[in-house]
Amino acid sequence: MTDTVVKMNNPIEIRQQNSLLGIVAQTQQLLTICYPKPPQDVFPRLVEQYRVGFPVYTAVSQQAGLVGFAYLAPNSKGGTLESLSVHPQFRGLGLGKQLVQNVLSDHPGVIQITTRIPDFFEELSFTRVTELPDRSHFMICVNF
Ligand SMILES: CC(C)(COP(=O)(O)OP(=O)(O)OC[C@H]1O[C@@H](n2cnc3c(N)ncnc32)[C@H](O)[C@@H]1OP(=O)(O)O)[C@@H](O)C(=O)NCCC(=O)NCCS
Repeated sequence: MTDTVVKMNNPIEIRQQNSLLGIVAQTQQLLTICYPKPPQDVFPRLVEQYRVGFPVYTAVSQQAGLVGFAYLAPNSKGGTLESLSVHPQFRGLGLGKQLVQNVLSDHPGVIQITTRIPDFFEELSFTRVTELPDRSHFMICVNF
């Protein structure tokens, strides 16, 4: 299924695919913009951890290309949501929430995340489990 968000008459489609085929360079660009602070290791970690078959969710603008991204690293009970990012010029349109909601609706189970923006995820039905030594928050969404 494809969802569409419109910004100034330009449609942005939220899609799902099961590989990074055709979007590696754009994903690197987007993650580098969205995670600018050192150590800037979100893209290298994606390359290390991603396996073909992991569900990838993208927001694609006809004019600007890839403007939103997230993937799920599945496990036997659900999975971990990774690398959520929306290009700064396309924030506040609901793309970030829609990407997460699509992951949740396609994957019943226990979905985990480690994040520095717990408030954003609380609005999406995630619960805080604990704060980690680096001050990020481990959260889960029991999604059945
Ligand atoms: C977090 C992020 C994905 C949100 O994308 P987005 O498309 O702007 O999000 P949406 O438009 O769906 O939702 C916007 C809402 O999230 C809230 N929000 C956005 N960034 C937030 C933050 N850093 N902390 C808390 N809430 C935040 C906004 O206040 C807004 O709330 P509202 O709906 O009540 O007005 C985007 O800001 C981003 O890529 N940030 C950098 C990378 C990052 O931090 N990723 C998450 C790490 S787990």
